[in-house]
Amino acid sequence: MKLFLDTANVAQVAEVAEWGVLDGVTTNPSLVAKEGKDFKKTVLEMCKHVPCVSAQVTATDFAGMKKQGEEYASWHKHVVVKVPMTTEGLKALKFFRSKGIKTNTTLIFSLPQAILAAKAGANIISPFIGRLDDAGEDGMALIGEIMQAWCQYDFDCEVLVASTRHPRHIADAAMLGAHICTVPYDVFKKLPMHPLTDSGLKKFLADWEKVKK
Ligand code: G3P
Repeated sequence: MKLFLDTANVAQVAEVAEWGVLDGVTTNPSLVAKEGKDFKKTVLEMCKHVPCVSAQVTATDFAGMKKQGEEYASWHKHVVVKVPMTTEGLKALKFFRSKGIKTNTTLIFSLPQAILAAKAGANIISPFIGRLDDAGEDGMALIGEIMQAWCQYDFDCEVLVASTRHPRHIADAAMLGAHICTVPYDVFKKLPMHPLTDSGLKKFLADWEKVKK
């Protein structure tokens, strides 16, 4: 399973990339606004650290998405154009696939949406599980449905589990065979941690002090 960082903070990307486990980054307009930095510079900095950086179009019509997406794709070969799950977005996905521009479809909340995006030519689809949980639904159940459907067909489209809230989401997504998980920085930092690792290491080091050297 690939692990992405869900952030627009370059320092966070640089830090986690050093661990050797980071496969990509997903940004969105809200994350970019939170950092308050130049969007193009941010994306280009991130492209130095990882081979896949999602940059979201903000146009809502096909012509606007096409223009923005083509521009983003021209910045760097690591850029993946993020397109919202709308009918205009579907047209854009088809266009970008025909041009060899990689895409990630965002704001997926149902299996029919996932199927449409894959059929239109998305390279990646992003179901938002945390927001479904927040709305009283079962986000991980949607990942189960999508992965089951994906087993029946030959979609050339990776399933990226987005809107993750805690480490258990990453474990459950892996057990369902999801291709990618995007993880917020604070959750990513929890992934290497376990209290028994800490106490175990403390004891090993204390015992090592008793060894004659
Ligand atoms: O980047 C898309 C997605 O991961 C957003 O997550 O926490 O805003 O629901 P969240």
